[in-house]
Amino acid sequence: MNGPWVEKYRPQKLEDVVGQQHIVDLLENYVNEKSMPNLMFTGPAGVGKTTTALALVKSILGEYWHQNFLELNASDARGIETVRTKIKNFCRLKPVGAPFRIIFLDEVDNMTKDAQHALRREMEMYTRTASFILSCNYSSRIIDPIQSRCAIFRFSPIKGSEIAKRLEYITKEENYDYDIAAIDNIVYFAEGDMRKAVNILQASASAGDKITEEKVYDVVSKAKPQDIKDMITKALSGDFMGSRDLLRETMVLQGTSGEDMVTQIYQDVTKRAMEDKMDSEVYIHLIEAIAQTDFRIREGANPRIQLESLLTKFL
Ligand SMILES: Nc1ncnc2c1ncn2[C@@H]1O[C@H](COP(=O)(O)OP(=O)(O)O)[C@@H](O)[C@H]1O
Ligand SMILES: [Mg+2]
Repeated sequence: MNGPWVEKYRPQKLEDVVGQQHIVDLLENYVNEKSMPNLMFTGPAGVGKTTTALALVKSILGEYWHQNFLELNASDARGIETVRTKIKNFCRLKPVGAPFRIIFLDEVDNMTKDAQHALRREMEMYTRTASFILSCNYSSRIIDPIQSRCAIFRFSPIKGSEIAKRLEYITKEENYDYDIAAIDNIVYFAEGDMRKAVNILQASASAGDKITEEKVYDVVSKAKPQDIKDMITKALSGDFMGSRDLLRETMVLQGTSGEDMVTQIYQDVTKRAMEDKMDSEVYIHLIEAIAQTDFRIREGANPRIQLESLLTKFL
């Protein structure tokens, strides 16, 4: 195993960033003009904010980007004094071999308001020599005076089809075989988060040479579709205790959550109805019961009891 794939497959160039075309196009203009305002990247986790910032820095600063670049991560100490001292020390020096210097602060929404105010004063102080790139999950958590000093770029979750394409590319590079269904499932579980998708892919791959749906289910702790199917078949045939045993086993052994169980039961029942293996009248009644269970679990009711009660409706 050669390190995490999320790092190995982090795009190095702006044009290789997946799914943020609109943003990349605008940033390319800054690269062409060799100048940029302060920027703020906002959006959910794992969609390319840090990646884009680094790629932009490299292409706008050129060969000597490293000497002209300061990165302050969320894991670094970022109290007011640290921010001031580090930024001051960095900005005092003139840019070498590049038009200006860039300071990148990741996850600014985790900085206290006081530290944000200190940051704002530094941003004002060094407008001539340095530009800032700030990244955050929620721009609403950033003080207004910082927001108004930045061009704001809103990153969106990455489309399923684009995640699938990327996963297939990585799989081929790594010489793994895969089932299409495995990729589809990863895309489904990742919910637009590319980091999560690549991490699930790698975890599913380490167990063998082919990436299968089964392996993905193991990694994300969802129930195996076959187990759900058996459980429902038992309940439909009147074997409540047998079906209840399967329910408990799945939840304990796989660690599947109540919400996921309901969704998977819904998927199985729907498949039966679509394939004409279940009477539509029965299906309609079951959907009603599934919807109720789903609602109750989300409202905080005990998932095991709710799911067992749902199984009684199948009898
Ligand atoms: N838009 C993207 N295109 C390609 N890979 C991506 C993209 N977004 C995230 N990734 C993958 O996920 C990892 C983490 O992305 P990162 O840019 O740090 O996300 P963020 O800063 O938005 O939380 C990257 O190293 C890369 O492997
Ligand atoms: Mg980041």
